[in-house]
Amino acid sequence: MHHGQFLYQQVIDVINEMVTNELLTPGSKLPSLRKLAQQLSVSIPTIKQAYYQLEAQGRIYSKEKSGYFLSDHGKSTLPKRCKLSVAPTEVNKQSLIEQVYEGIHSPHCAPFGIANPVAAMSNELVLAKMMRQALKQAGSQILEYGAMDGLDRLKRQIAQRYLHMGLSVSIDDMVITNGAQEALAIALQCVTKPGEVVAVESPCYFGIIELIENLGLRALEIPVCPDDGLWLEDLEKALNEHEVSACICSTSINNPLGSVMPESRRQALLEILVAKGVTLIEDDVYGDLHFSKHRGKPAQYYASEGQVITCDSFSKTAAPSYRVGWILAPGFAAQARRFKRALSCSSSLINQWVLADYLASGDYERHLRKLRQRLMDNKQKMLMCIRSFFPSDVRVSDPGGGCVVWLELGSDVDGGELFKLAMAEGVSITPGQLFSVSERFQNCIRISYGLPWNDGVEANIKKLGDLVAKLKSGEH
Ligand SMILES: Cc1ncc(COP(=O)(O)O)c(C=O)c1O
Repeated sequence: MHHGQFLYQQVIDVINEMVTNELLTPGSKLPSLRKLAQQLSVSIPTIKQAYYQLEAQGRIYSKEKSGYFLSDHGKSTLPKRCKLSVAPTEVNKQSLIEQVYEGIHSPHCAPFGIANPVAAMSNELVLAKMMRQALKQAGSQILEYGAMDGLDRLKRQIAQRYLHMGLSVSIDDMVITNGAQEALAIALQCVTKPGEVVAVESPCYFGIIELIENLGLRALEIPVCPDDGLWLEDLEKALNEHEVSACICSTSINNPLGSVMPESRRQALLEILVAKGVTLIEDDVYGDLHFSKHRGKPAQYYASEGQVITCDSFSKTAAPSYRVGWILAPGFAAQARRFKRALSCSSSLINQWVLADYLASGDYERHLRKLRQRLMDNKQKMLMCIRSFFPSDVRVSDPGGGCVVWLELGSDVDGGELFKLAMAEGVSITPGQLFSVSERFQNCIRISYGLPWNDGVEANIKKLGDLVAKLKSGEH
């Protein structure tokens, strides 16, 4: 069993392995709680927790006095593996992204289209108090331009957090940015020139797709496994066939699949890229929102200078409106500073100040613990609602962290059409097409569970499920 995971998750992994190896097939009986507890040397409540979770996902079902059985969905509820691109693609997605962006930010819609995990566990009172304190203590200097590459006190707090992950970083290699988006823009400009090729995840966060288009780069789509992150065999094959300048990917938790790349695969990813002289740009914005017991180490931990550029922010954990992120770029620090100065001079000093206080007080870590728990609870509820309200052939991801689920609706449902119908009913979703530089994922959608859970949320998921059923039956 793997270290660093909750025990029940490890039990789920064992069951998954039995299914993969066809030791369990649909309809077959799972080992009894007592027997499996003995075999795996864990407690019966741990096995129970794993079985409850599998039951909530519709993968197993219980029969009174008989035990648990693998359901028909047991084998195939996760999204399918997509194909490796045959060639790099020019990117032309901006106008579609623009249309969807406007829609999903409409204040009148249930915000399933926005990935804002902090909304699930508000921290506004503590941040408001810290903002008042900061203004009182620092006076008007806090409203002036800050240092171009960021507030040292905040950088030291960030470095301290890396130290807890076992990674010793120099604050001279770090530049504070306007969110992770600016960090990614800087990273790409450090290691690519227009026309060059960047390997991206498939599906890939659409902000990265938009950046690639804006910078005149081309993209090569590498499939992401719903469990383990980027398919490394595909990456290797792609690098053998094409000249690639950088690989940009989530080494922790992918958006939108929620898959988690195990640490051994992060190391293997780096080895593959280093062998080809390709820089890894790691997007770690969801790294702190893991559902396993421990946060994995960023790929930067395994790298020598110049091999990895890490991009991260406080948008998914503290407050997206602060627009505070950072780039950690050993080997590229001078270029990163130059790009930052050219792009935006500096980032908001008052927001950096508040974040430095937030981290130093220990309140940030306390908030993170609560936020992770809330998101885990919301994920379970979301999966349960999808199983109850969506047609049974819909496949859904089982994220290992973050705040979104990815749904494959079947070839008879177009995610773009569903987006329009759902918006008309006051519900926002993100259509799958946004997550591909080509025409993939037309029958997929992303839904966020990063929101305060209430009956209204469930009613809106039901609305979505009903719409999908109507599209399938040809009623719409
Ligand atoms: C995977 C990923 N990377 C980067 C970003 C951008 O983060 P920020 O809001 O800090 O610019 C997002 C935001 O949604 C994201 O999901």
